[in-house]
Amino acid sequence: MSMSTFRTAVVRTAAGPDSIEIIDVPLVDPGPGEARVAVAAAAINPVDLAVAGGFFHASGLINQPAHTGLGWDFAGTVAATGPGVDLAVGTRVAGLVTGFDRDFGTYAEQLVVRAADLAVVPAGLDLVAAATVPLNGLAAAQLVDLLGVAPADGNRLLVIGSAGAVGGYVAALAQDRGWQVTGLARAEDEEFVRALGADFTTDAEPGWDAVADTAVLGEGGLALVRDNGAYVGVRPNAAPNAERGITVDVVETVPDGPRLGDLLARTASGALPARVHAVVPLDQVADAHRAVAKGGVRGRFVLTP
Ligand SMILES: NC(=O)c1ccc[n+]([C@@H]2O[C@H](COP(=O)([O-])OP(=O)(O)OC[C@H]3O[C@@H](n4cnc5c(N)ncnc54)[C@H](OP(=O)(O)O)[C@@H]3O)[C@@H](O)[C@H]2O)c1
Repeated sequence: MSMSTFRTAVVRTAAGPDSIEIIDVPLVDPGPGEARVAVAAAAINPVDLAVAGGFFHASGLINQPAHTGLGWDFAGTVAATGPGVDLAVGTRVAGLVTGFDRDFGTYAEQLVVRAADLAVVPAGLDLVAAATVPLNGLAAAQLVDLLGVAPADGNRLLVIGSAGAVGGYVAALAQDRGWQVTGLARAEDEEFVRALGADFTTDAEPGWDAVADTAVLGEGGLALVRDNGAYVGVRPNAAPNAERGITVDVVETVPDGPRLGDLLARTASGALPARVHAVVPLDQVADAHRAVAKGGVRGRFVLTP
């Protein structure tokens, strides 16, 4: 069967879930170094709600003539490859597409991506679970890179929002670099946070050697860092101003196929959590966005196109 168009969810005038529509766009062949993936699963992330809500249009960071795409995470199977790509058709892969300003994203039946950004999904990990890993696993890994190896004389790291997707991964991965991790989350999240090997609090006192602010508290997160400590945030345009000798960094996640392969392997082995809240057909994307917007969801909504 040859298919000359495919379905994708976009916004024309970004105004929240009601403005999401499903359109047909032309199928594109992969160029050199690229693969076309038949998407089996695409996770819904906070950034998608912000794009659909017009936040980045209002900030001048999106300037699409016709429509703006949604979706950063995906897992699926290789449907076609361009020159120089050594991946068999049918290989199960996952990956990340970054950037707000694009005509469509991973909420789609098909996607052409750089093959170097893909990772093969290990046997034993289903594609729905795999689709929850790329954006937030890589964000956490790259955030932990910014923190670096914990100094022996000051290795107490507070992870704010440690029941969230990024925060859960940071709490787990920072321990590899010698950080002694405490997760700040809501009382009902204690079991999840402790299962990551972290200590737990609902109410942190100031004085931490480092703070990873995945709940975007901003100034409130910075206030918990000791003098000359480290703060790492997750919103490139909303970092608090440095004070008291504190190093302030913000992660800006980039695709990384090999690193993603490692995160997927650790997910398949159970060393990293894989949390799926619900699997939803692409047609119900607007309802799923509404549900995420209410807050308090643990695990991702995953769209199946
Ligand atoms: N810079 C990058 O490249 C990058 C990459 C990925 C993600 N991000 C950003 O990182 C942020 C987190 O993403 P995510 O997917 O991890 O979101 P998430 O899964 O919704 O996690 C956020 C967590 O923070 C919790 N939280 C909020 N306020 C809190 C508070 N005062 N005390 C304790 N916990 C609190 C939330 O709990 P409730 O649900 O109960 O409120 C939730 O568990 C988002 O802003 C996202 O856009 C940035």
